[in-house]
Amino acid sequence: MTAHNLLIRPQKTPLRGVISVPGDKSISHRAVLFAALAEGTSLIRNWLPAGDTLATLEVMRALGVQIEVDARAPQAWDLQIVGRGLHGLQSPTASLDCRNAGTCMRLLAGILAGQRFPAALDGSAQLRKRPMRRIIAPLAAMGAQITAVDGRAPLHITPATLHGMRYEMAVASAQVKSALLLAGLYAAGQTAVYQPGPARDHTERMLAAMGVAVQVNGDWIELPPAPEGGWRLKPLDLTVPGDISSAAFPLVAAAIVPHSEITITNVGANATRTGILDVLRAMGAQIEAHNERVTGGETAVDLTIQFNDLRGAEVRGATVVRAIDEFPILAVAATQAAGLTRVRDAAELRVKEVDRISVLAGELRKLGADVAEQPDGFIITGPQHLHGGAVDSHDDHRLGMSLAVAGLVSQGPTLVHAARCVHDSFPGFVETMQQLGAEITWVD
Ligand code: S3P
Repeated sequence: MTAHNLLIRPQKTPLRGVISVPGDKSISHRAVLFAALAEGTSLIRNWLPAGDTLATLEVMRALGVQIEVDARAPQAWDLQIVGRGLHGLQSPTASLDCRNAGTCMRLLAGILAGQRFPAALDGSAQLRKRPMRRIIAPLAAMGAQITAVDGRAPLHITPATLHGMRYEMAVASAQVKSALLLAGLYAAGQTAVYQPGPARDHTERMLAAMGVAVQVNGDWIELPPAPEGGWRLKPLDLTVPGDISSAAFPLVAAAIVPHSEITITNVGANATRTGILDVLRAMGAQIEAHNERVTGGETAVDLTIQFNDLRGAEVRGATVVRAIDEFPILAVAATQAAGLTRVRDAAELRVKEVDRISVLAGELRKLGADVAEQPDGFIITGPQHLHGGAVDSHDDHRLGMSLAVAGLVSQGPTLVHAARCVHDSFPGFVETMQQLGAEITWVD
């Protein structure tokens, strides 16, 4: 039987070694979705086979897309995807299961809004709780026909004629921006999305690599009207860089376990994603980026980090958007930093996999942390003494991994219940941490 819980013992030795992390989740979702719409066969190397991205892969197969997998390593697959063109997807025979993956559901809604067949999108109990009005309302304004249950999944999408529009997002969201740009591929006229902050731009970069010249005009992202005969996407040939959101866990672990020094190779360093590096550096972390190169329109670097005494930092504004998935692990770093860490402008955290303000605060408190919850963030004054104990991931992968890292700097053992969800984004998390000498193991 597979173990479901993680046991973490107080880390007595420094973390040392050279590791890599699996491919970027956002890019892996997009690579499958976009390659399916291309004309020709795409090659995608170092694709992330995690719970969330496998949901996308299976959903695209259910839409008739042929995907060949070369599982060259358990955490790094190479895919060959035979594109069906923008109008070649097949009508699914059942509801499409996005499991826990918000990116899968929201981006796919944009694609399905433009199809000539109806489709239903559903997911886990967790995904059914997440807000979908943020995509339903603007897609409906483009002409899409989508019904939901009180603004939540399951979504039922029926064929409709789409027209472009100019839409101002209230909150900077890459998922909303991407859904609208994808629907825009099927729409008459121009589609333009205003973003009030630097939401990740993998969609724009990948579409550009496929021959769709998305224009960035200040804070407006503009998809021009389709050329005569409609858009034709060129196939992709790309190597997915490692996920900086996964690298964040060993990075923070090395920043807080005394005398550690680790290197993480091939980490994606797209400027819309590197907020975590800026915040850790502002906290005094010694991080060096070297060997910068560009792969598939995305920058990758090797990162070396050394343990150092950390101090608190203020995190707000554009940095929040650029580090949106890293707040659970930043909170752990903050417990070990001297002085005040204050996070503001981050109310979005309340609608992630779980409420990543109140649930995070509640679980960290069980380990002995003192976290002051704010409507749009939290305040932590460190350094704090963590005593360890039993905590629960709430089926949130990033919360589970953050609690495991917190366990390393706790005085007593820590048990993270329901930790299988780490596979949603970081298969091999435990083995990777063990490679560094971390005292983390699976237990029943
Ligand atoms: C993602 C965008 C972010 C992020 C999520 C992945 C993406 O969500 O939190 O994990 O791949 O576009 P929002 O765009 O809704 O902030």
